Amino acid sequence: MDRIRIVGGNRLNGTIPISGAKNAALPLMIAAILTDETLTLHNVPRLSDVRSLAQILNNFGIDVTVAGKRAGQGEGYARTMHLSAAEIVDTTAPYELVAKMRASFWVLGPLLARCGKARVSLPGGCAIGTRPVDLHLMGLEALGAKIELDAGYVVASAPDGLTGATIRFPKVSVGATHNVLMAAARAKGTTVIENAAREPEVGDVARCLVAMGAEIDGIDTDTLVIRGADRLTGTEHAVLPDRIETGTYAMAVAMTGGEVLLEGARGDLLQAALDVLEEAGAEVTSTNNGLKVARNGAALHPVDVATAPFPDFPTDLQAQLMALMTRADGVSTITETIFENRFMHVQELARLGADIALDGDTATVTGVDKLIGAPVMATDLRASVSLIIAALAAEGETMVQRVYHLDRGFERIEEKLGNCGAAIERISA
Ligand code: UD1
Repeated sequence: MDRIRIVGGNRLNGTIPISGAKNAALPLMIAAILTDETLTLHNVPRLSDVRSLAQILNNFGIDVTVAGKRAGQGEGYARTMHLSAAEIVDTTAPYELVAKMRASFWVLGPLLARCGKARVSLPGGCAIGTRPVDLHLMGLEALGAKIELDAGYVVASAPDGLTGATIRFPKVSVGATHNVLMAAARAKGTTVIENAAREPEVGDVARCLVAMGAEIDGIDTDTLVIRGADRLTGTEHAVLPDRIETGTYAMAVAMTGGEVLLEGARGDLLQAALDVLEEAGAEVTSTNNGLKVARNGAALHPVDVATAPFPDFPTDLQAQLMALMTRADGVSTITETIFENRFMHVQELARLGADIALDGDTATVTGVDKLIGAPVMATDLRASVSLIIAALAAEGETMVQRVYHLDRGFERIEEKLGNCGAAIERISA
């Protein structure tokens, strides 16, 4: 198993290219199920989650090819992917594959819409609390699917196709919105999704579906009106920049000090997080080719933040903010409202000397004068990157174990940070 070794203390200076968003690339790849023509996606990040999903799609009979790297691109940066689902030969997504990554559960709606049936294992993915799928099932049932549970699998059928309906989600769910949105794009008639997730990745998928021939009103709002099409076509679509990667590197710079251009980043995708960073003492400037983040000498100030659905502060940046606040000159509170139990990084941050008290869904972080490097364990995707942020500012060496969690969601992190002056290396087992 690979490890990452960091020696803290260096400031970050330079440019970090921001990859395409994992959380958009995955549903966009899944949208290929909806057409027998080729869907071409540009700016697809090179991540293990992308590879795992490609394997699941291969099993259905979908051809997934990745174009070679372009001139001027380093090894391992985002690339172009062609997906062709001319014929779907299998509609089962097995446990061994779905357990690796929760987003693969989102094949359920598209398979049902295209083939009238699907058998999809209940999901795995990051261990960040109980993550039910009741809303996904409720939405698809409203479109006319018959759903049964059988030995850990969701068995769904709609022999006569899906029919549009009005669905009001009692809770905002990114995954359920994706699943129902994609299914509705090929359902008969009009579907209205009320209380839809407004995350930019949902908007990205909706825009791709429109380019494929679906009619969708209300993109980027909480009410999506989808007029399904009998047939969708292929198209070309560029995955939007990863706002979580953007926010993560922005916090890393705020932590170490220095100045970094986050190339290709879009501030409008994470305004709430940027506001918090500015409150904490970082400077954020929008430029023509990305976001510039700097902290030069100013102290880090404590903040009080609660995670919430977009456009508020994202749960996927909670662990990183907590790492940053371990060095603030005061007491911060961070409340997690999306996932219970998403605090596994607290224990590991404490190994580096952080002072964090947990009470229910709120962490109280008292800034300390210094962190000291130690061996730590990555526990989930975003938690593991919070350890990297802390390690960048810790005295001495931190060895992060189980970095396969990181590889699920961060493209070449050691190269991106290393190019800006961090002392970081991957030690391959
Ligand atoms: C997606 C993102 C994940 C992010 C999360 C919240 C991807 C691959 N994953 O996850 O990175 O952290 O959004 O922005 O894009 N819920 C139910 N029933 C359901 C579905 C969800 O109760 O059927 C609950 C969940 O337990 C959670 C909340 O709704 O409390 C939000 O979950 P959801 O938005 O669905 O998260 P994911 O799609 O799993």
